Amino acid sequence: MSRKPIIAANWKMHKGPAEAVEFIEEFDNLIGGSSLVDIVLAPTFVSLPAVRDALVNSELIQVASQNCHFEEKGAFTGEISIGMLQEIGVDYVIIGHSERRAIFGEDDRLINAKAKSLHAAGVKPIICIGETLEERDANQVENVLRRQLKEGLMELDGEKMFETVIAYEPVWAIGTGRTATPGQAQEAHAFTRKVIGEIFGEDISAKIRIQYGGSVKPANTAELMSQPDVDGALVGGASLDPGSFSEICKNSTV
Ligand code: PGA
Repeated sequence: MSRKPIIAANWKMHKGPAEAVEFIEEFDNLIGGSSLVDIVLAPTFVSLPAVRDALVNSELIQVASQNCHFEEKGAFTGEISIGMLQEIGVDYVIIGHSERRAIFGEDDRLINAKAKSLHAAGVKPIICIGETLEERDANQVENVLRRQLKEGLMELDGEKMFETVIAYEPVWAIGTGRTATPGQAQEAHAFTRKVIGEIFGEDISAKIRIQYGGSVKPANTAELMSQPDVDGALVGGASLDPGSFSEICKNSTV
């Protein structure tokens, strides 16, 4: 089963509009006119319009937001609706990132509400899952992933799952420089695919793309991507520099 790799840059709270556009100019030159992988940039909300404009002639690069609210509108100070993101032309929305879970108290129920609203609106979710170091040390990886998948993907539309992306990001590997070994990543990805198969059936589990995230760098990309169930990467720190992010994209073709 061949799945096209999807490489996403999660810029977190970095790069305002001017810096984001500068990145795109440099990155475009480095990557050239074609790529064998899907490339997605996830800037901050305020940089989304500038990024979309800078990519107006790009068939290569898609745009993600790092979060959304699940309601269409209302008294939710500081929040952004999916309709607003669609107006800008956002293709994907990252939900359930471990920083949202840990710092902003998001739980599987909320993530599920966002996933449902994204599916209803026709925007593709990138749903993040992953265990903490304590959970890994306590041999809870499978229990945690199973819970996050069962609750986060509850009652989602099977048809829309084909275009949904799952990002396995072990929390202990995010921003720490400590990458999961290719074997650890493969094991968690294979388990994730198995659970998705239990929920949605074999057809979807064979086609859904599962990204790895956590200290992905140019030097460790190829080995991670060569694992049979690793279908891309969600990249934080190393995506901030056009040089290293373009290397990661190039090293992702297996
Ligand atoms: P990192 O972040 O690549 O800096 O570890 C990954 C992520 O948080 O998505």
